[in-house]
Amino acid sequence: MKQKIRKAVFPAAGLGTRFLPATKSSPKEMLPLVDKPLIQYSVEEAVASEIESILIVTGRDKSSIEDHFDISFELEAVLQERGKIELFKQVRALADLVKISYTRQKQALGLGHAIYQAKDFVGDEPFAVLLADDVIDAKKPALKQLIEVYQKYSAPVLATMQVKGEAISRFGVIDAEEVEPNIFKIKSIVEKPKFADAPSDMAVIGRYIFTPELFGALEKTKPGAGGEIQVADAMRFLLDEGKPFYAVKLDGVRHDAGDKLGFLIATVEFALKRDELSADFRQYLKSLNLG
Ligand code: UTP
Repeated sequence: MKQKIRKAVFPAAGLGTRFLPATKSSPKEMLPLVDKPLIQYSVEEAVASEIESILIVTGRDKSSIEDHFDISFELEAVLQERGKIELFKQVRALADLVKISYTRQKQALGLGHAIYQAKDFVGDEPFAVLLADDVIDAKKPALKQLIEVYQKYSAPVLATMQVKGEAISRFGVIDAEEVEPNIFKIKSIVEKPKFADAPSDMAVIGRYIFTPELFGALEKTKPGAGGEIQVADAMRFLLDEGKPFYAVKLDGVRHDAGDKLGFLIATVEFALKRDELSADFRQYLKSLNLG
């Protein structure tokens, strides 16, 4: 199966427990990094990777995501009245960014279950999955890096990065063989292993290219780690059937913005890159004299 990757799925129905109470009534995907919600960064990454159609899988209280990518007549009218034309253009551009549809995951039964909600949307083409709380700062958009590997090997691809020490237990982890610099053929995958059991230090991060075969595997997947339907278990099922899977070590920096410390680090890094903020912000950080 070799086709253009046109569709992307954004699972955004998780409970976001690591960021409570901020995520009690608002999705973590709407937490702002400087002045854009997390999900906008990855929607822009998808658009820059030539994605044409997006499905966002939402849970309860996710209407703010829909509103963010919709036209806001009232706000636009006020901005125009007040002559704030630049802001008006920015707000309108969001609604014109890309075709977005929505579906609900009625219960947060895991990432695998969230992706399964996209079965009808995906149909019979290969597709991308992006987790918006993994914000990836990269010259070449992260998803584009995966798409290039997909186009070369005609098989599913996931993103990986090296994680040192005990922290590996918070990730899916792969055992893989390097087939060319930074590209790996996956032998096996395990979700959130104990440090001692981790097959390597190569963690799976939130960007994937799958083929529709994944849905059949998800149908057979029983709840795994944390009682959730894990996409890693479905992938292992396909690997056991001899289906090829690749991984690409991303050229870029990944921030776990769904975690408080990761979010704070990402905020500082992104603020320092903004022309209108960086000089004053840098000066403020220096004045802290943290020693
Ligand atoms: P996380 O592992 O970060 O889980 O999900 P979470 O529930 O969102 O957050 P914490 O760990 O409780 O703080 C990874 C991605 O999968 C989505 C999340 O929205 C996030 O993008 N997800 C997870 C779903 O859409 N549905 C689920 O049932 C679980």
